[in-house]
Amino acid sequence: MSLSAFSSLKSTALAIHPLIPVAHFESTEQALALVDVLLLAEFKMIEVTLRADNSLQVMEAIARQRPEICLAAGTVLSVKQLQQVQEAGAQYALSPGISSELLIAAKQQKFALIPGVATPSDIMLGLAHGYVDFKFFPAETLGGVASLKALSAPFPQARFCPTGGIDLQNFMEYLALPMVACVGMSQLLPDALRGVDQRSALAAHLRQFTHLLRAVHDC
Ligand code: 3PG
Repeated sequence: MSLSAFSSLKSTALAIHPLIPVAHFESTEQALALVDVLLLAEFKMIEVTLRADNSLQVMEAIARQRPEICLAAGTVLSVKQLQQVQEAGAQYALSPGISSELLIAAKQQKFALIPGVATPSDIMLGLAHGYVDFKFFPAETLGGVASLKALSAPFPQARFCPTGGIDLQNFMEYLALPMVACVGMSQLLPDALRGVDQRSALAAHLRQFTHLLRAVHDC
């Protein structure tokens, strides 16, 4: 993605930072410590998924204690969860899929929702409700960059956050696409680098991504 294309997306929720770490945590302490590593590495946002029993508590802790990071809630599947993550302090929500119910509720709550899409019909449903920002999930399983190019071709107004199977080896291929605003990946906070004695190894891991990114983006 060129710098000018990125600038034109800056007003959208998807364009806060091109790299979105996707994670759930063992504890709020672990979450806050890892968010600190992300902030030091100049990451601007995190997606905390609703895939652990403590996810809402973790979101509350990050929202209150680390307000400098933009907090997104992931794996939002229901209207009830949409309400819960908003109350927990998330600034927007991502869903692996799309439903009229979620689209309508998010609009009524004036809460930014990035629905997940995998087919042209999914995108048409989103567009019909006024949404233009979508999560493309699960990106690699769906055919990766080639699939997203074909899927997005009829929808020039749509922007995407591919997620699922993205890593250090392929993330720049996605960011090179003009319709891609950012990518989400759990590989930014891998399980193997989450220990308290691994903070500098995690920082070095994050630098591998940001070095590649900075060759193209000013962020
Ligand atoms: C998500 O919830 O968005 C995905 O599970 C993240 O996918 P990844 O683990 O393949 O990066």
